[in-house]
Amino acid sequence: MSLIRTIYDRLPEGVKPALRDLRALIRLVPGTRDHARTQWVKSYTAFQMAERDTLFRRIAYFCHVNRPMEGYYMEFGCHEANTMRLAWKHSRFLFNWTYIAFDSFEGFPEIADIDQQEIWAPGKCATDEIEFRRRVERTGMSAERLHTVKGFYDTSLTEALRDRLQPKKAAVVYIDCDLYESTVPVLEFMMPFLQRGTIVVFDDWNCFWGDPDRGERLAWAEFRERHPELRFETFHTDGMAKAFIHVGGGGGAAA
Ligand SMILES: C[S@@+](CC[C@H](N)C(=O)[O-])C[C@H]1O[C@@H](n2cnc3c(N)ncnc32)[C@H](O)[C@@H]1O
Repeated sequence: MSLIRTIYDRLPEGVKPALRDLRALIRLVPGTRDHARTQWVKSYTAFQMAERDTLFRRIAYFCHVNRPMEGYYMEFGCHEANTMRLAWKHSRFLFNWTYIAFDSFEGFPEIADIDQQEIWAPGKCATDEIEFRRRVERTGMSAERLHTVKGFYDTSLTEALRDRLQPKKAAVVYIDCDLYESTVPVLEFMMPFLQRGTIVVFDDWNCFWGDPDRGERLAWAEFRERHPELRFETFHTDGMAKAFIHVGGGGGAAA
C-alpha cells in the first residue's frame, strides 16, 4: 500500500469526504497525473465498444451464412444497453429475432466469497428497467420486439418462464453478468433454447485474472461436465470475451 494511502486511512473520518472532493476536482485539471489517468481509463470504454462491435458483426455474419438462424437474442446482464444496442444494430436488417433482456435492473447481488474482486459490489451497474427500455427503443427497436425479465437470476429464471418462452430457440445467448454465482443459473436456464448454431458468448471470460476456477469460466466448466452430451466449438476469443457455437446434442428439434 502506498504511503499516501496509509496516511489517508489514518485520518479522522470527518475530513475524508473533503479530501475525496478535492481529488475529484484535481482529476478535472489538465496536466495533472490524475487527469491523464482518467482520460486513459476512459479510452478503454471506446476500445471495449470497438471489440464488442467486431464480435457482434462476426455473430451476424455467422448467422447470415448459416441461415436461417432465427429465434431469440437472449442477454443476461444488460445494464446500460450497450450490448443490446449492438445486437440490434447488427441484426435488425437480417433477422427477425425477439430480444430478451434478463437483469435485476438493480445491479449486482450480494457478492459471494468466490466472486470477491475489487471491481464488484452489490448494487453496482444498476440501470432502471424503464431507462434500459428507453435506451434500446430510441435506436428503433419496437417495444413488442423487446422483452425484459426483471429480477435476480436465482429467483427470476423459473421453470414456468422457461416453458412460456419455448418452443422458440435462441440464435444468440449473450452472458454478461460477470460473476460465477450469477452465471450458474443462467446456463441451466438457457439449455433448452440451444439449437444447432446457437452462439453462446461470455463477455467476461477473463475476469478473475483468467482463473479457470473462478467466474464464468468455472460455471461453464461445471455446466459442460453436467451435460457431456452437448457439443460446442470455439467461435471467438479476444482479450476479455470468449464465444462458442453449439453444434449439437441439446435443446430440441433443431439441435
Ligand atoms: C457489466 S453489467 C452488463 C453490461 C451490459 N451488457 C451493457 O452492455 O451495458 C452486468 C449486469 O449484470 C447484472 N447482474 C449480475 N448478476 C445478476 C444476477 N444474479 N441477477 C440479475 N442480474 C444480474 C447487473 O445488474 C448488471 O446490469
